[in-house]
Amino acid sequence: MQRKENGVQRVLIDASTLDKRITELAAQVDSWYLDSTPILVGVLNGAAVFMTELMQAMAIPVQVDFMAVSSYGSSTESSGVVQILKDLSTSIEGQDILVVEDIVDSGLTLQYLLDVLARRNPRSIRVVAMLRKVKPGAIAVPVDLVGFEIPDEFVIGFGLDYAGQFRNLPYIGILSPEAIMAKPGR
Ligand code: IMP
Repeated sequence: MQRKENGVQRVLIDASTLDKRITELAAQVDSWYLDSTPILVGVLNGAAVFMTELMQAMAIPVQVDFMAVSSYGSSTESSGVVQILKDLSTSIEGQDILVVEDIVDSGLTLQYLLDVLARRNPRSIRVVAMLRKVKPGAIAVPVDLVGFEIPDEFVIGFGLDYAGQFRNLPYIGILSPEAIMAKPGR
């Protein structure tokens, strides 16, 4: 039978390590907003799992909204072209915004998002990213909090996909070269 683990070369960050780190991130984020109710802006689809876990681990009241931006399609390389596929449902003017990202790779997506959001005059914008790739040539986009710095390899699971699959793995894994070769339509 086809299993969701097929295509994982190895586990990079296991479920309990993720869980522990998210608890730490949540405590740090809580300390930023002792006197306000931030709007958490999750970046779909990849950040859905991280967003869910993070907000449940937080102690302060929050509001939640989502944006969807184009990512890589079904490739493993950034196209450099970012497009808003779904916008926020509310105004963020005068609000404290916490952008919740799954992974910062080249930094292009986040840089674009931060530009778009800053033009809407929020009171503050901060960013928490579950993963950041250590990558020569990446844009030096500011990220206030990073869960894990990871090597420059294509990862899947915990919300992250390859060709639309693997988001429901409960850990972060490295995609196997065979899975890249086996991509539908390749
Ligand atoms: P960036 O614009 O290159 O920083 O890429 C950001 C987006 O690309 C992320 O929000 C992900 O959706 C996607 N992405 C980048 N690297 C990976 C990866 O290793 N696995 C899965 N998705 C990735």
